[in-house]
Parts: sequence; structure tokens; C-alpha cells
Amino acid sequence: MNRVKIKQILDTDKNPGKVLIKGWIRTKRDSKEFSFLEINDGSSLKNIQVIAQNNLDNYEDVTKLTTGSAVSVKGEVVESPGKGQKWEINASELDVVSIAPETYPLQKKRHTDEFLRTIAHLRPRTNKYGSVFRIRSELAYAVHKFYNEKGFRYVHTPIITGSDCEGAGELFKVTTLDGNDVEKGKFNYEKDFFGKETNLTVSGQLSAEMFALSLGDVYTFGPTFRAENSNTSRHVAEFWMIEPEMAFCDLEENMNHAEEFLKYVTQHICDNCADDINLFTQFVDKSLKGVIDSILNSKFKRLPYDEAIEILKKADQKFEYEVEYGLDLQSEHERYITEKHFKIPVFIYNYPKTIKPFYMRINDDNKTVAAMDLLVPRIGELIGGSQREERLDRLLDRLKEMDLPVEDYWWYIDSRKYGTVPHSGFGLGFERLIMLLTGVTNIRDVIPFPRTPSSIDF
Ligand code: 4AD
Ligand code: MG
Repeated sequence: MNRVKIKQILDTDKNPGKVLIKGWIRTKRDSKEFSFLEINDGSSLKNIQVIAQNNLDNYEDVTKLTTGSAVSVKGEVVESPGKGQKWEINASELDVVSIAPETYPLQKKRHTDEFLRTIAHLRPRTNKYGSVFRIRSELAYAVHKFYNEKGFRYVHTPIITGSDCEGAGELFKVTTLDGNDVEKGKFNYEKDFFGKETNLTVSGQLSAEMFALSLGDVYTFGPTFRAENSNTSRHVAEFWMIEPEMAFCDLEENMNHAEEFLKYVTQHICDNCADDINLFTQFVDKSLKGVIDSILNSKFKRLPYDEAIEILKKADQKFEYEVEYGLDLQSEHERYITEKHFKIPVFIYNYPKTIKPFYMRINDDNKTVAAMDLLVPRIGELIGGSQREERLDRLLDRLKEMDLPVEDYWWYIDSRKYGTVPHSGFGLGFERLIMLLTGVTNIRDVIPFPRTPSSIDF
């Protein structure tokens, strides 16, 4: 007999006839003549109702089933007389795969996100987290689909690197050295596995640039690591980033691309995850539909950094952090601009060079760089990107100005010697994208096993 996913049954208009399903009991109601079982197999938010009659050989076992127990059911799909579901199953055989004891922590009641974080290994079994992780999977697919349709190539950039792309020093060291290799209080990296100081990547950008300058349009999509000791609801130490890099592309085209990307993946989720999105709209964030609507139907605002500073200075709101030209925008500032002032996603561009990394292209004012951040409601910064400095002399000047070891960047510099072209790209935090499209407010709740300061369970 054909084993099917519950989603397949629920999504079809044509009766699939006899089926075999396997899943877990969510709830059960018994009467003298039969048991009603709500079964979920993770394929969809919805359960399927199974009716087990008391003429089953093992009906006694069926009545002992508890929440969380696993079963295998053969039966006939029939139209359901009940409300809210089209089909149900009349069981002809019901095998008990395992019985969950009454101590199972996910009994039918509402649990707080904080509690569920302490059982991160079980939380995908709840409705909310099942929906989060189905959407996460579907979004990842949408990313690849978008780039595939646009003819971009997917590049696997290394996780272990010898450079700090962002220059922020938030690096996790990678080493095989131990205390015995310390000489005069310092590690002797010459004895280390790679013969030099090495760390987990903070961004695949520098590698992606080399491939954009070969294959044209490329993207990376993988894990990145930052030892930021900030316990905020928008930072984790291990997060996934999507980084497109486009040859023959300037800052404006870069922003066009970012806007197109965000609209595409948002539309994909609306088209393919309607049940899950409804759950978030109902139980997590009543404003979610409005946010999604503002992504799909607005033209994103584009605002130079200096104008953003002016708006913030005139704001009728007290900020914790100072607003001054030359200072980086804090999340409270970013949220004010996108949530309160414009109420749609906002690109801020042309930031002062002093607060941005070495690789960004210097503007003619010699004061600002061709950087852009995309700010979105409830999150603040979703995307950070720029046009890259493609001119060899300017790049060398910048490296020196910022006191960076020019020798280490020899391969990066090479790309500006041979066939250099204007090129641009950005990084989009995948977890922040999931937060945006679900209304979930803590980044720890959209990644399977979050890595944050002093927390590495699971
Ligand atoms: O703005 P960032 O630091 O940009 C870069 O790394 C560039 N090299 C990207 C590029 O141009 N290819 O990071 C990009 C995005 C941020 O906008 C944010 O969404 C996310 O990555 N991000 C984090 N997400 C979760 N936890 C953290 N600690 C994050 N740090 C950055
Ligand atoms: Mg940034």
C-alpha cells in the first residue's frame, strides 16, 4: 500500500482511497465504540483525524495511546462530516510503534518560548515551531529557486579562513594548538595546523568576489560565525547568510536586486506556506500581514545616510544612543526609520567610510562609501552590502589607511590587477528574514539549535 504524507491527503480534492500513514498522536478521544485520533506527521500544520473502531483486534492497545505516541495506520480515506477538514481516515489496521509516557513534556497546552528553548530538541513537535522550521526549509528552497531562475551560480565558500572580511575582530579561532604550544605567553601559530592564525568565516564575500569576477553572477548561502558578545534578540554566534555577488553591477543595481530578491522569496512563502503564515498572523503577530503587504506592494525607500541622520535628529522620540553624523546607526534608530517614519522597508546608502570595512567603494566626496543597508520593520538591519572598491590604487590606499596587512590580501588585490570591473553584492541574514516573515521576535526561535554566549546545549 502507498505510504503518503498527511499533507498530500489534506491538499488533494480527489479521494486517494486506501492509504498508509505514519505519525504521532496529538490528541485522542475515546468512546465505547471508537477512538478519534488526531495524528500529525510533521508534513503540515494540520493533523488528520483517524477513526479506530472497537472491532480492531488491538483496540485495547489503541485506547492506551498517549500524546506523543507513534503509530502506523492503514485505512480508507473518507469525506469528513466534521468542520474544518475535508478528509479523515477509517482505520483498518493501527499498529502502535511506540508509547510516550505521561511525562512527555509537550502535553496539549500552551508553552512559553522561554520554556521551549530549554527543550529545543523537542520544540519542533509543537505547532508553532513546526511552522517555523517548515517555513525555514521553504525559504531556503526559494533562495535557490530565485538564483537558479536568474542564472546565478551557487559557490561554496570556505568555512575555515585566514582573513577577517568585516574587520570587526569578532572571530572564533580555529586551532589544533594546546597549552604546550604557548611560547612566551603567545600561541606559536607556525606550529598550528595551517601554519598561521585561522578562524571561522564571518562572511563568504571575499571568496564570492573572486567567483563573480569569473562566473559573472554568483551567490553563497551558508553558515557564518561571529563571536559578538551581545545578547540581543537579533544576534546569534552561528547564523546563515545569503551573499549574492554581481559583476558589472553598481550600488543602484545592487539595491534593485535586493528589493527583487526580498519580494520574490516573500511571495514564494505566501504562495506555498499559507497555513503556517496564518498561524503566525493569528497567534504570534497580528501585524504580520501588513508587514508582508508592505514588502510585496511598496517601492522600498532609498535614503542617503546623512538624510537619515537629519530625520533621526528631528524625531519625536528619545533614543538611548546618540545620533551624530559619523556614528553607526543602532537598532533603535533603524527601527524608528523603517517602522515609524516610513513604515516600509528602507535602504540607507552612502555611509561614512570611517564606520565601514575596507572593501567598500570610496565615493567622489572621499568621505563616504557606496554602502547600503536594508532596514525592515521590527528587525532593523536585514541586509548589509556595497559596491566594492574595484580600483587597485584606491583599494591599496584603503588597506594602508586602515592598517591592514596588505601581504595577506595578495590574492584579493590580484583580482583588481587582472580584468577588474565594477561589482557589488550584499549579505542577508537568513534568520532575520525568517523573523521578518513569521513575526517571531527572538532569533533564538528561528534556528534549530541557537548558539549564543554561554549556551551550547544540544
Ligand atoms: O552587514 P554584515 O556584517 O555584512 C557582511 O558580512 C558583508 N560581508 C556581506 C556582503 O556584502 N557580502 O552582515 C550581513 C547580514 C546583516 O545585515 C544581518 O542580517 C546578518 O548578516 N547578521 C547577523 N545575523 C544574526 N546574527 C548575527 N550575529 C549577525 N551579524 C550579521
Ligand atoms: Mg551590517
